[in-house]
This record gives sequence, C-alpha cells and structure tokens, in this order.
Amino acid sequence: MNLLRFDSESAWIECVCSLWRDRLHTNPGLKMCLPSGTTPTRIYAEMSRSARTGIVSFDRASVFALDEFGGLALDDPGRTKHTLERQLLDAVDLPSSAFHFLDPDVPDALRHCRDYDDAIGDGFDLMLLGIGLNGHLGMNEPGSASDSPTRRVTLHGTTVESSARYFAHQNLPQWGLTVGLKAVLASKEVWLLANGAAKAGVIEQTVRGEIGPSNPASLLRRHPNCSLFVDAEAGALLLD
Ligand code: PGA
Repeated sequence: MNLLRFDSESAWIECVCSLWRDRLHTNPGLKMCLPSGTTPTRIYAEMSRSARTGIVSFDRASVFALDEFGGLALDDPGRTKHTLERQLLDAVDLPSSAFHFLDPDVPDALRHCRDYDDAIGDGFDLMLLGIGLNGHLGMNEPGSASDSPTRRVTLHGTTVESSARYFAHQNLPQWGLTVGLKAVLASKEVWLLANGAAKAGVIEQTVRGEIGPSNPASLLRRHPNCSLFVDAEAGALLLD
C-alpha cells in the first residue's frame, strides 16, 4: 500500500483530483466505482469544477455506485445514488446510461446483485473508497469474506449511528446492498481516502495492525496497486 500524507486537506483534495484527471486523460473509458459519504464531498466538488471548465471529461467513462442504503423513500436525498448525482454526476458529462447503481427495492435482490457483478465484468480500473470507523469498505463490515460478491448486508450498529449525518430524519437504514470485497480486491487500482481526526485510529490500525477480516481495509495491504491518501489529521498516528 502506497501511503500519501498531506499537510492540509486542500493539498489532499488537489492531489487526488489531479491524479483522477490524469487517469481520465490516459484512459477516457475509465471504469470507476465511487462511494458516497462525507469523505469525497470536496473531491467531487473540485472534479465538478474541473468538468464545468472543460479540463476533464467523463463522456466515455462509466461509474458504478459502491453501495446503496435500504429501507428509505425513493427520493431520500441520503441515498447513495442521489448523493453521487448531486455531488458529481449532475455536473459532469457522463452519459446517463453509463451510471450504474444498486436498487434496494427490486423484488429479487440476489439476481440484481448478480447482474451488477456481471456488469462490473473484468473489474474496475479505479475504485475510490472511504473508510468506516470500524474499517468497513462500502458496506463490507468486519467479518466480510475477501471473496464476497455484491450482496445484501446488515449494517453494524456503529455504522447505523454514524450514518445519521447523511439523513435529515431518524429513520436510519439498517441494511443495504454493497459491491463485495472480491471486486474491491480485483480492482486494477484502489484509492483509500481518509480525512479528519476521527479517522486517525482506524488508519493506524489499517496500516500497522493485523491483516484480516476484522478490519476489511487492512486487506488492501495485499492489493498490488492501492494508495492510501490521508490528510494530516487522519494520518496523525502514522508519524513515528
Ligand atoms: P464517511 O464514511 O466518508 O462519511 O466518513 C465512510 C464510510 O463509512 O465508509
């Protein structure tokens, strides 16, 4: 795992966006998997600006949503799909047919998840990931198998609690659909992103702790092309 630590959040954002623009220039057909959550918000804002000013294009790329919350109203703004649209996709020139997302309301979730894995095909070129306070990736909670497929999962209590900031109501989702660790580990390139002091502990565990299913993010240390981007606060415990 390559470790990239930045003195400021703005330097962290600028580096991720500059590399992201570079990947799109080199491979306009880039197949990406993207998370919602608080972590990438300002990165998406900067990429939206880049698209609006014409210095990057998504017109031949494809985007897969990393996960989706279940049990919410169709128009809940906290859904991953809506968050990605609002924060990034509405501002870029990605054709709507190139945006793939998980629908937790389908009658046959098993089949839907299998179809999603089929659409992912031979894997992502680039995957951006946030990290949960318990090391989860997407909704792959601790204990998830490293070869897990896209599937329905139950969220851990801490994940439910910390999701409160995404919603304007108290009906917090208890489950969701997520891309599995198999596709995460098979992605050609993975960028694990973390900012803010709250992530310092789990980042230290991820970099220095045991590699295993109790911290899904630790499995990325075995990935041949994974970079961890942290700002000074999230990387504060990595200094010595
Ligand atoms: P966050 O969530 O980006 O809102 O911190 C990350 C996660 O829980 O995966």
